Amino acid sequence: MTADSLEARHVTVRYGDRTVLQDCSLEVTPGELVALVGHNGAGKTTMLRAISGLVSASDGTLTMNGEDLRGLSPSRRARHGLGMVPDAGRGAAFAPLTVRENLRIAQDLATGGIKVTYEEVQGLFPPLFEHLENAAGDLSGGERQMLAIAMSLLREPKYLLLDEPSVGLAPLLVKDAMSALRNVVDTFGIGVLLVEQNVQAALRVADRIVVLKNGEFLREFAPSEIESVHELWELF
Ligand SMILES: Nc1ncnc2c1ncn2[C@@H]1O[C@H](COP(=O)(O)OP(=O)(O)OP(=O)(O)O)[C@@H](O)[C@H]1O
Ligand SMILES: [Mg+2]
Repeated sequence: MTADSLEARHVTVRYGDRTVLQDCSLEVTPGELVALVGHNGAGKTTMLRAISGLVSASDGTLTMNGEDLRGLSPSRRARHGLGMVPDAGRGAAFAPLTVRENLRIAQDLATGGIKVTYEEVQGLFPPLFEHLENAAGDLSGGERQMLAIAMSLLREPKYLLLDEPSVGLAPLLVKDAMSALRNVVDTFGIGVLLVEQNVQAALRVADRIVVLKNGEFLREFAPSEIESVHELWELF
């Protein structure tokens, strides 16, 4: 076990009598961007939910910088520095409140895991900051994603789990969002676990790619080991 890492070891998750994740292990270290890819229903979101505590693993260990996470509630895990941006930024912001108010709330909840300033987040997502006085509920899908990521960063996480942040973003914005994520990892030294259907976009920014198939880890590799997205999909 590495002391400074977010680590899942031999994790098994069952919904009723169906095993959705079987003996899955992965590790993310600070300053590393790991992409988790796989077909629909492979178990990617379930892995993020198990790490963040939204579902419980029936087997295996989960640690963050050496601390056992399993006994901690999702909110406790968040306070200890584990950030999560849910699918399509769903539920991340308070819809009736303005973007500015939501960002303020996130700042108030900062855990002090890393140092992130409001100005730094503004630099990552300029389009979002043109809508500071708009209600979060009136944002477009892409803007909502940006707000969810911005809020998660202002909470100063040590590790950040992102579930398909590119969904709903225009192709040009996907590129920007991925570069912004890479920037976040390099600038703040956060460890990021990124679930992404847009494999091409993930390949461009990830340090490592982990492939999940039918609830089991197939293999892990560096982007340089793979010549094309096509080659990667062949592996699934
Ligand atoms: N609460 C639940 N109860 C029962 N089955 C569930 C539950 N949540 C997810 N599943 C099932 O577990 C499997 C894995 O789901 P999961 O959401 O982890 O997949 P995924 O890899 O994130 O897929 P996608 O790419 O479509 O988001 C799916 O077959 C799904 O139907
Ligand atoms: Mg999913």
